[in-house]
Amino acid sequence: MEFENILTENNDGILQIIINRPKKLNALNRDTIQELHDAFSEAKEDQEVKVVILTGTGEKAFVAGADISEFSDFSVEEGRELAANGQAKLFDFVANFPKPVIAAVNGFALGGGLELAMAAHFRVASDNAKMGLPETSLGLIPGYGGTQRLPQLVGKGRAMEMIMTAGMIDAKQALQYNLVNHVCEQEELIEFTEKIAQKIMKNSLVAMSAAIRAINANYEDGVNGFEIEISEFGSSFGTQDFEEGTSAFLNKRKADFPGK
Ligand code: COA
Repeated sequence: MEFENILTENNDGILQIIINRPKKLNALNRDTIQELHDAFSEAKEDQEVKVVILTGTGEKAFVAGADISEFSDFSVEEGRELAANGQAKLFDFVANFPKPVIAAVNGFALGGGLELAMAAHFRVASDNAKMGLPETSLGLIPGYGGTQRLPQLVGKGRAMEMIMTAGMIDAKQALQYNLVNHVCEQEELIEFTEKIAQKIMKNSLVAMSAAIRAINANYEDGVNGFEIEISEFGSSFGTQDFEEGTSAFLNKRKADFPGK
């Protein structure tokens, strides 16, 4: 698939999806959201893709937010649709993606950029990264899941403060806040993240999808996550990966999962 605003690169099962609008600090316009949706849809079906790393081009920005120039004259209804479409097409799509998605935050992750990083399954940041939800400085609130996912990750009080002040935190503080799992030097960001992806790829990707569904169930209204866990746990016993994983362990050899 040809893209204008993103780049993709598959390196031995690790697909990098790179947001590529450097002149606009990788701000998410409508076309970029659509292209990201298309790239993730393709990655979902592609057996060669095991793990996705989502990052931004250049050394300055992961994503500096939704593209403000696109919605500055929107009405109430258009604003609502912008949030609903974006959440369905990209942010929820990434959060519920059946293969692991790691955000490699390489600079500014603001507004929709931080929301996108938070939709990923976990985050690694470079030491120059800056994160925040500045929407209240624009007379808005976060609309791509930020009011929900930020408190889940950092706690209600810190989320309230970040959203109310519209300020930015640096990578060190993001680590203290549990917003990112690791911080490394900018030059090492992709290599460091790939090493985590390689560790993940040694395990059963069929089990990984079940784990993503079970963990996400904890955050769904009206869903009992423990019941989902029981159901997903039970289903695992019917997979070839389970047969291979347990037999490899009992025969003291490395598992070679068929569900790869
Ligand atoms: N939407 C649209 N354009 C954006 C953008 C966004 N969210 N963020 C940056 N850009 C554009 C700028 O308008 C500028 O374009 P121009 O060269 O055509 O004027 C270009 O990207 C470079 O940004 P600039 O502001 O000149 O860089 P800077 O280093 O001075 O500042 C930021 C960097 C990130 C602090 C600043 O760009 C910023 O505050 N961006 C908006 C962040 C935001 O509020 N995001 C939430 C949106 S809901």
